[in-house]
Amino acid sequence: PLNSTIYLLIQPTGRIHLGNYLGAVRNWKDLAQESSSQDIPSNCIFGTADLHAITVFKEPTELKKFRYETLASLLSAGLDPTKCILYHQLSVPEHSQLSWIFTCLTNIGSLNRMTQWKLKAHLNDSGSLFDEEVGKAKAGLLCYPVLQAADVLLYKATHVPVGDDQSQHLELTRGIATTFNHSYKTNMFPLPKTLLTPTKKILSLRNPDKKMSKSDPDQNSCIYVNEQPEAIAKKIRKATTDSIQGGIYYDPDGRPGVSNLINIVSGITRKSIDDTVKDMEWMTNHKQLKDYVTEVIVEELKPRRHLFDELMTDKAYLEQIANEGSRKAREIATTNMDQINKLIGF
Ligand code: ADP
Ligand code: NA
Repeated sequence: PLNSTIYLLIQPTGRIHLGNYLGAVRNWKDLAQESSSQDIPSNCIFGTADLHAITVFKEPTELKKFRYETLASLLSAGLDPTKCILYHQLSVPEHSQLSWIFTCLTNIGSLNRMTQWKLKAHLNDSGSLFDEEVGKAKAGLLCYPVLQAADVLLYKATHVPVGDDQSQHLELTRGIATTFNHSYKTNMFPLPKTLLTPTKKILSLRNPDKKMSKSDPDQNSCIYVNEQPEAIAKKIRKATTDSIQGGIYYDPDGRPGVSNLINIVSGITRKSIDDTVKDMEWMTNHKQLKDYVTEVIVEELKPRRHLFDELMTDKAYLEQIANEGSRKAREIATTNMDQINKLIGF
């Protein structure tokens, strides 16, 4: 999109998996590529959501490691730091400042309605819906959608490439932007739009009724972008398929396992499902399909794994990238924050 700012933070939870890669990060790479090649350049800003990470307690040494790994994952997935801003949220203190300002403009009722809050608050407790139990949940879990609004609006972002589980939060962001604009008689903040990802959800290899996720207890369900070829082959061999004989065809309801493998290939090769299935016409059994899928994944991820390993041995380079990104991000953030402060009367 012309004249736009595309903005998104990713949780620093370490290595990324095939679902994150095909469903999210590769799409950001395309957006950054596109934006930088336009006559009227638009901004792409991506970063690690450091302040969001502590809404659930993390071991300090783990968090530090994860912040590096996430940055290395983004770079190894192809994000080019010359075509987008890549930074750590933590290095721009204005996020917290704007978050407080927005907290003062947000009704508790609207935060209470957030589906993610309901899910997380009750999951963290005993699963009971009683107020007393909800009362034990941390305020950060209730308020992090306000921080998200601050993240996006601090850069006056116009587009946010999130999954559908986050669209309610983006609606809240638009509400907060509207309230601010109205309260301070300004048109400071644009109302950011959701950019939906073109790739289909990648499903768990072992339980193809769920999405692929790093929190899946069966680790054979999830392929990481920096995984060794032998490990990938083993996981694909163990992937749940079906006992239908006589060739490979696409049927997400009747053959979820097989169709998920077809989606993976179609996602990687960027071919349509029809063309992907045509390429598989010669196959007579599941083993041929699995060997083929393994080869496609291994080929795609090989350079990513090499780059990830290389980056993880060069912390100084990672820090240099993050510092450069932070400098650019902070420049935008402080300019906008000055304007916001003036509007408020600070
Ligand atoms: P996880 O579920 O493994 O914790 P996250 O929730 O951190 O992954 O997701 C980070 C990004 O990757 C989000 O934009 C999300 O929409 C995308 N994503 C996560 N899992 C998948 C999947 N299985 N298929 C497609 N996209 C996914
Ligand atoms: Na998740």
